[in-house]
Amino acid sequence: MDTLVTSIHHITLCPGSAQADVDFFTGVLGQRLVKQTVLLDGNIPVYHFYYGNADAEPGSIATSFPYRRRKGRPGSGQVSTLTYAVPRGSLPFWVAHLAQFGALDGGTDERFGAAFVRARHPAGQMFELMEADDPRRPWTTCAIGADVATRGFHAAVLSVRELAEAEQFFVDALGFRKVGVDGDFHRLALPGGNPAGLVDLHHQPDRAPGSWSFGEGTFHHIAFGVQDDEQLASQKALYEELGYTDASEVKDRYYFHSMYVRAPGGILVECTANVDEGFCIDETREELGTHLNLPPWYEDQRSTIVSMLEDVELPEANRPRTPGSQIARPAGTLTQTAPPSRTGPPSRTNATFGAGDRMAVHAGDAPARH
Ligand SMILES: [Fe+2]
Repeated sequence: MDTLVTSIHHITLCPGSAQADVDFFTGVLGQRLVKQTVLLDGNIPVYHFYYGNADAEPGSIATSFPYRRRKGRPGSGQVSTLTYAVPRGSLPFWVAHLAQFGALDGGTDERFGAAFVRARHPAGQMFELMEADDPRRPWTTCAIGADVATRGFHAAVLSVRELAEAEQFFVDALGFRKVGVDGDFHRLALPGGNPAGLVDLHHQPDRAPGSWSFGEGTFHHIAFGVQDDEQLASQKALYEELGYTDASEVKDRYYFHSMYVRAPGGILVECTANVDEGFCIDETREELGTHLNLPPWYEDQRSTIVSMLEDVELPEANRPRTPGSQIARPAGTLTQTAPPSRTGPPSRTNATFGAGDRMAVHAGDAPARH
């Protein structure tokens, strides 16, 4: 059977402070803030930030839920490192740049013949800048030029206790092929050679399992892209055929449709099909990330949601050209591809914000400025 999965689509983590997260991704890693929105599950407003390359391409998108309600526990059964591709010869720049922000973790290292340096998020998550030939268009900042900037994801490192079952899942259920071993790292690749098509399983048989819930300081899940809703339905059917019967329903994430399953060992794996307009469903390509966008079914709760989010100072590139302008679609005008016929319409959480626990709101937090 042809592979349904084309590449990594996005990887999601839980930082603590929203401001520290924005500063790290945009200022330290030089990512484009592609989208400001909120977590679509639960009754407590939590930011959902998307960061990517110049073209906001799948395979470059890191997303974050700043989550100070609970600490997570890093461990096996989780994404442990997100690896970005950077141009060959750029590591001296990255060593100096990361050191300037106190984000450098160790020295230059090498895996599968490629040199890399490590960066540590303020909440503790690990990132790598790995040299690779990669044609994707970088986002640049005043401090990070095109000659050194990240191109998108190169790989993801996943910590696993039981290697054989994890490999079996990635090969049988997601279409990867094993392409190499380097010490404790077992590399799997998607056919076709697309960027962001590598997963390195880090065999750590003695590492305690990490937490599964949202929790500050952990990666939450990894998402892989499929072509369309029909293939998303086929992916769910494939899981069930193989006995991975805890695959979720298809959920409407507004910018894409998603379906989740737990891989052996606990890693939460999402498969994702973009809707036709993708991230441009509520902003133009040029304006991406310059507005706090809510899905239409939450627009009537905007003032409550905004009042419960922490104050965040955005990078210059993400401040609205017209202060105060909002171009989110009014409620009820959702346009998207037809839902998959074999699974019914994608599901949505219909929350009432402000009715639940307000533990997330810190005394002194001011309304967000956008
Ligand atoms: Fe996701």
